[in-house]
Amino acid sequence: MCGESGGQTGSMQEQTKIEKPLLGALAGRRQPVPPIWLMRQAGRYLAEYRAVRQQAGSFLDLCYTPDAAAEVTLQPVRRFGMDAAILFSDILVVPHALGQDVAFVEGEGPKLDPVRSPADLAGLSPDRLSAHMAPVYETVARVADGLPKEVALIGFAGAPWTVATYMVEEGTSRTFERVRAFALGDEAGFGGLIALLVEATTRYLVQQVEAGAEAVQLFDSWSGVLPESQFAKWVIAPTAEIVRGVRSVYPDVPIIGFPRGAGSRYERYATETGISALALDETVSLDDAVRLQARRPVQGNLDPMALLLGGAVLEDAVLPLVEALVHGPYVFNLGHGINKETPLDHVETLVRLVREKGARHGG
Ligand code: CP3
Repeated sequence: MCGESGGQTGSMQEQTKIEKPLLGALAGRRQPVPPIWLMRQAGRYLAEYRAVRQQAGSFLDLCYTPDAAAEVTLQPVRRFGMDAAILFSDILVVPHALGQDVAFVEGEGPKLDPVRSPADLAGLSPDRLSAHMAPVYETVARVADGLPKEVALIGFAGAPWTVATYMVEEGTSRTFERVRAFALGDEAGFGGLIALLVEATTRYLVQQVEAGAEAVQLFDSWSGVLPESQFAKWVIAPTAEIVRGVRSVYPDVPIIGFPRGAGSRYERYATETGISALALDETVSLDDAVRLQARRPVQGNLDPMALLLGGAVLEDAVLPLVEALVHGPYVFNLGHGINKETPLDHVETLVRLVREKGARHGG
């Protein structure tokens, strides 16, 4: 079951409905004990995930089977008492819904049909989005019903640039040469792909909120590979458009932006996109994290390798992070997804450390 979470006082409980710690932090209110969840918290490091995954068949079948997807969404909340559940799905269900072939090949990662020309683009359409995503919305609704009352439900999508990298490169890339050449050499053509993704992603997020998501996160995992002018065009502008679109329907829903690898451009991203909170990757220094926290609530940014190694390495990484950020609105998380070899007792230790340290310094 859920561990103790976050520090509401008795008088607050009497006055108002209890605020979920994650939502309080994302709204800019400092929490006495930082709420915690982990990117990829549902996944292969959990035996109970591997069991459901095996029964479901393919990874995409798992994403589109509400019973199973809701179960794996809830597993890490049940086991570790996380302060948030993140919908179990993948960023690549959007290209799939648009009509692109997507498969997850065991041991190799995602494989997609290439999209490199206006003709390829013409084969894609947002018309089937709502029908295709119906099982995902059903998963959201089931999780919303099954969550402990202090735990928040986060929906998500990939940001257009990152999703486009998979669509153009046919999967994961090391060099991003094809997608970078497309973006740089055919601005109108690539802009068409990004516009399609902005439209689909906005609708997809709005419908997740409608189904019960209380916050959403935009994953821009490959934003770091773009030079400055291209970063403005393909990361900031589409993200700002999605934020405006979601807010036009749900003005108050918190939107967490994760421009992984954005480095010195995190600040610009924070102010120009209008997102509510910033997810920091593990390369962001403590000083920069504190500086960014003056602008937006921050989430992050423990090195997943420290969690993998555990012991003194983990303690030495967690304690300064909590100490530096607990004085403002802060959500504890990793700087990127959890490594699949991570021992479960390291995650248990992490949750305990964050809550003990938070209570000592922030209480
Ligand atoms: O965080 C969560 O627990 C929610 C579920 C979630 C998954 N993927 C499940 C998943 C989320 C939020 C994602 C996001 C995602 N997917 C991103 C952005 C974050 C990041 O890591 O940068 C990206 C780039 C993807 C695309 C993707 N999905 C790749 C490249 C892979 C293969 C690599 C791998 O780890 O196997 C996936 C597969 C995937 N998505 C798995 C899970 C649990 C593993 C698949 C399995 O169970 O076999």
